[in-house]
Amino acid sequence: MTPATLARAATLERLIEAEQARFLRLHPRSAAAWREGRRHFLYGAPSHWMRRWAGGFPVYIDTAQGAHVRDIDGRDYIDFCLGDTGAMCGHAPEAVTLAVTQQIGRGATMMLPTEDSLWIGAELSRRFGPRYWTLTTSATDANRAAIRIARMITGRSKVLVFSGCYHGGVDEAHVEIRDGRVGLRNMIHPNAVDHDAVTKIVEFNDIAAVEAALVAGDIACVLTEPVMTNFGMIPVADGFHKALRDVTRRAGTVLIIDETHTLSCGPGGYTALHGLEPDILVAGKAIAGGIPAGIFGLDQVTAERLWRIVPPVNPRQRQSAHLGFGGTLAGGALAVAAMRAVLEEVLTEPAYAGMFSHAERLAGRARGLIAQNELPWHVTQIGARIEIMFMPSRPRNGADVIAGRQPDLETLMHAFYMNEGILITPFHGMLLTCPATSSADVDQHGDVFERFGKLVGEAGVT
Ligand SMILES: Cc1ncc(COP(=O)(O)O)c(C=O)c1O
Repeated sequence: MTPATLARAATLERLIEAEQARFLRLHPRSAAAWREGRRHFLYGAPSHWMRRWAGGFPVYIDTAQGAHVRDIDGRDYIDFCLGDTGAMCGHAPEAVTLAVTQQIGRGATMMLPTEDSLWIGAELSRRFGPRYWTLTTSATDANRAAIRIARMITGRSKVLVFSGCYHGGVDEAHVEIRDGRVGLRNMIHPNAVDHDAVTKIVEFNDIAAVEAALVAGDIACVLTEPVMTNFGMIPVADGFHKALRDVTRRAGTVLIIDETHTLSCGPGGYTALHGLEPDILVAGKAIAGGIPAGIFGLDQVTAERLWRIVPPVNPRQRQSAHLGFGGTLAGGALAVAAMRAVLEEVLTEPAYAGMFSHAERLAGRARGLIAQNELPWHVTQIGARIEIMFMPSRPRNGADVIAGRQPDLETLMHAFYMNEGILITPFHGMLLTCPATSSADVDQHGDVFERFGKLVGEAGVT
């Protein structure tokens, strides 16, 4: 390391420590709750993800309404994290609250369908294109089921993913390419999965690498987001999706498109907007307004391939013929009622239009400030999702993110933002608008971003 790099790292360290000290002063009750939580929970909170906020501990939430949350120290935040997309409908949207309240009084789960599910099936096909759907309890579960189906119908073992991807608790996808070598994704520990046997990984946007990987004929499916949203944001190159569809079709490999995050692109996700043709489409998180639920849908050809192995209805085999994926609560009445409310009344065309216009304004102001202050950063916006990245130009793949990303500057931004009353996703620089986001929220973000730019500009650590 050069003396300049060392000095820069020391300055960042000092600024992060100052923000964390401010965070501790501002959040005495959350700090006490965290001390107590660590006595009971394996990683301090009900989910280990909750410990990853940059203040050093999570704030404990009292209430969340629309685009705002209030913590137990009485501090209000504009929420652009929105539960890392789980709350993209906004917090406590009226229609979902009503539907869930009514349904819980009539039964939450019965291992039997309700009539609302019929409406949902038709609506999902109207939005995403005609498909045969299954409901799950999470996007992770939907991805796992989709992979399993791909293996069943192809008889092949491997899943091809792109470096920098995240698809939930899916072992096959916990890999990345670093320094030209394939390894477990940053910070994930080995757990005896033989990735050589089950995974193939290449860089996003590299169609030649995909084609080369498909030659061996052992890849059951390609699992990808339409635009990568979990390693900063990596836009898709022109023509990549068409080429990906062509080469997977030729190789007899199932194409799974994971719309869990890109549902923020519109009512039918990126797939409907750009006419993609996945064999299996997956989504989750916001789809039931925060009630745990995921979906996956097979197109006609893929469904028929599966039905040849496991027929749709066969009463004589009813006790033994299951598909190897689970979900006792999947498709339960409560999740179905919530999903109907979301699709019918919350994530509607007009709601998306409002979310897009706020996202555009937010991205526009951030870009303006970057240009005006000659900061070596950029902003990408797709639909309601904005990513601020501390590198000059858009990455083409995971390697570009690894080379250009500034993790300490991100940590500083996250801690600073929380102290200034703004939540963004704690893992990178993602902001999301929801139907309840207001112009005032967007303006306030601009002011905080400006103050952050000034702080790091004056300290010389942009
Ligand atoms: C693209 C994508 N797919 C799937 C998942 C998994 O979602 P869940 O953790 O809700 O199962 C995530 C989570 O971040 C995701 O970003």
